[in-house]
Amino acid sequence: MSTTEAEVDSLRAEALEALARADGEAEREAWRADWLGRKDGRLTLRLRGLKDAPAEQRAALGKSLNQLKTTLESELEERRESARADALAALSADDALDVSLPGRPQSLGRLHPVTQTMNDCIEAFAEMGFRVFEGPEVEWSRYNFDAVRIPDDHPARDMWDTIWIDTLIEGERQILLRTHTSPNQIRVMEQSEPPVRVIVPGKCYRQEATDATHEWMLTQIEGLAVDEGVRMSDLKGTLYAFARRLFGEDRQIIFHHSYFPFVEPGVEMAIDCFLCRADGSDCRTCHGTGWIEILGAGMVHPEIIENAGYDSSKYTGFAFGVGIERVAMLRWGIEDIRHFYQNDLRFLRQF
Ligand code: PHE
Repeated sequence: MSTTEAEVDSLRAEALEALARADGEAEREAWRADWLGRKDGRLTLRLRGLKDAPAEQRAALGKSLNQLKTTLESELEERRESARADALAALSADDALDVSLPGRPQSLGRLHPVTQTMNDCIEAFAEMGFRVFEGPEVEWSRYNFDAVRIPDDHPARDMWDTIWIDTLIEGERQILLRTHTSPNQIRVMEQSEPPVRVIVPGKCYRQEATDATHEWMLTQIEGLAVDEGVRMSDLKGTLYAFARRLFGEDRQIIFHHSYFPFVEPGVEMAIDCFLCRADGSDCRTCHGTGWIEILGAGMVHPEIIENAGYDSSKYTGFAFGVGIERVAMLRWGIEDIRHFYQNDLRFLRQF
């Protein structure tokens, strides 16, 4: 079939008009077959018929037909491309789904601030040669109380509002959630010979009306060192190093007398306030005193040394109990202990 230039123009118009009407991929494909199909596409046939055109027109006509072919091919590709873009836009509008949004990042957890503080405390004591020991959170009352010199009728039992397990043994409640980690002083000494140098981290429980500084669950680290010639100065040196490690190199410490039935003498240790440096009378952290109490400690009562089967004329020891939430509150200036266990990620993510 031979073609004239005028026919090429009207072919172009016809083809483009048909393409403009082709709606959807199936119709576009039908259009392609109709015009550009390899066997009997309308333009294909014209190209094939070039050989029948008058020799003097053949070159120019071939050029026009090939240009038309290129035009039709690129118009088709353009239509397909814009159809793809429209489909994508429709998808995100219809389903309110923005497929170009990046995926949701996997959120990585982190250690709880009390756990972080616990780890730092353990590291500080471990570097001084303390080994870690663990004891049960559900404890016998004879370990929690009797063995640390708090007998049934001792007023010191009232120091803690104990959470008892409601099981009677020989008619009595004998099991409780430990109120402190001190029963582990006994458990450790029962299992070992001096020299003893251990720390015992763990949760403790007291029935509290909770407030900014009291929670019914708390975390402690018990420390115990028993050997020949252990003295109060060793206790001071150990706690001094600990305080400096946690709260800064220039910390000062002070001991106040205190009472715990299982130590003699008993003390409470305070560090100089690292926030106001003891000169701010309205300091919230030290209440203007310049000192912050951080732990209870003392020399292990000789009776406890004897009960463990050690010779108390030969062996002496010191013990301490650190409240880990307390340390965490101080190091980060947290004003309310209850934040720790409310599981509010806005709080926890800060550490
Ligand atoms: N067990 C005491 C408490 O929970 C702390 C303490 C431990 C005091 C060891 C002296 C020695 O308050």
